[in-house]
Amino acid sequence: MIDIQKSPSSKIENTNFDNLVFGKVFTDHMMECDYVDGEWKKPVIKPYGPLTLDPSARVFHYGQAVFEGMKAYKDKDDRIWLFRPDENFKRINRSGKRLAIPEFPKEYFFEGLEELLKLDRNWIKKGFGNSLYIRPFVIATEAGVSASAASEYKFMIICSPAQAYYSGEVRVKFSEKFSRAADGGVGYAKAAGNYGAQFYPTNLAKEEGFQQIIWTDANSHEYLEEAGTMNIFFRVGDTLITAPTNDRILDGVTRKSILTLAEEYNIDVEVRRVSVQEIVEAAEKGELKEMFGSGTATVVNPIVGFGHKDKKFDLPKLEDSYATFFKDKLMKIQYNEAEDKFGWRYEVK
Ligand SMILES: Cc1ncc(COP(=O)(O)O)c(C=O)c1O
Repeated sequence: MIDIQKSPSSKIENTNFDNLVFGKVFTDHMMECDYVDGEWKKPVIKPYGPLTLDPSARVFHYGQAVFEGMKAYKDKDDRIWLFRPDENFKRINRSGKRLAIPEFPKEYFFEGLEELLKLDRNWIKKGFGNSLYIRPFVIATEAGVSASAASEYKFMIICSPAQAYYSGEVRVKFSEKFSRAADGGVGYAKAAGNYGAQFYPTNLAKEEGFQQIIWTDANSHEYLEEAGTMNIFFRVGDTLITAPTNDRILDGVTRKSILTLAEEYNIDVEVRRVSVQEIVEAAEKGELKEMFGSGTATVVNPIVGFGHKDKKFDLPKLEDSYATFFKDKLMKIQYNEAEDKFGWRYEVK
């Protein structure tokens, strides 16, 4: 069903896999599918390269764009695996719906993705932590600067090899003024504009020595919601706490997998609103043992400290952290090194 145009040459020989900057290098091919005349046309896989778009294309003016982030892993026997790809497929259509983008067909998504991965399989390196980051996205391509939903779109998948990376010590700032999302807004969608709008407040937080912001609810700034590209977990005593998803928070695949694993391993979990005050108090009393983010890029990202108003707090260094526990459990499932009790792995054959 998919039209495949192979690249005459490969860039792989000139790629240094020991020194990859995240998201900078792309594989030899990409998938492209256009929506015109009220339907998604036949997808094409072609050599990776620039696009030609009319300068008045809606995406440039009104940000009508959504995306996804997922990964492919290679096991010791060279088999290729995805992790819960159905969730990403459903989510790109949930996001798209909110942005008035027409639903993308499931068979095109999976067939395109699998053919692309098979074609570029040499870019997926073996070894725990190595992966291929997959970026599906949709943009409004219709020409014309009229502020309404476009009638033409482009769905694409591009792929970038990623190494196991140490993200450095992450300190976060609890947001007091800026908001990422509001009730009734687009926070739950992976809409491009959600990310662009975070850069300025994040730069301000960086000037204060923090790497990321933990966004709080837009109404009161009293409840902790999520980070820029990660859901967020707190361990108070031995209880794991995370905010419930809603229309302001992205329903992360890693988050929901951690919640399932926590239940499996009898870890006490509370999915409820988490107030800034309780976390500050728990930190002051020494009861806040851990904070970590969860997301496809780093799986689990430990947080070493946080700032709230003028105060800065450091978190203890734990031997037996939940962050390490969940990261190990998830990665072993992703790399086909552990039993897949919940049917999360998906083989690309
Ligand atoms: C805002 C936001 N929250 C959370 C996540 C984590 O989601 P997932 O675990 O599906 O990667 C992401 C990344 O996709 C994100 O962009």
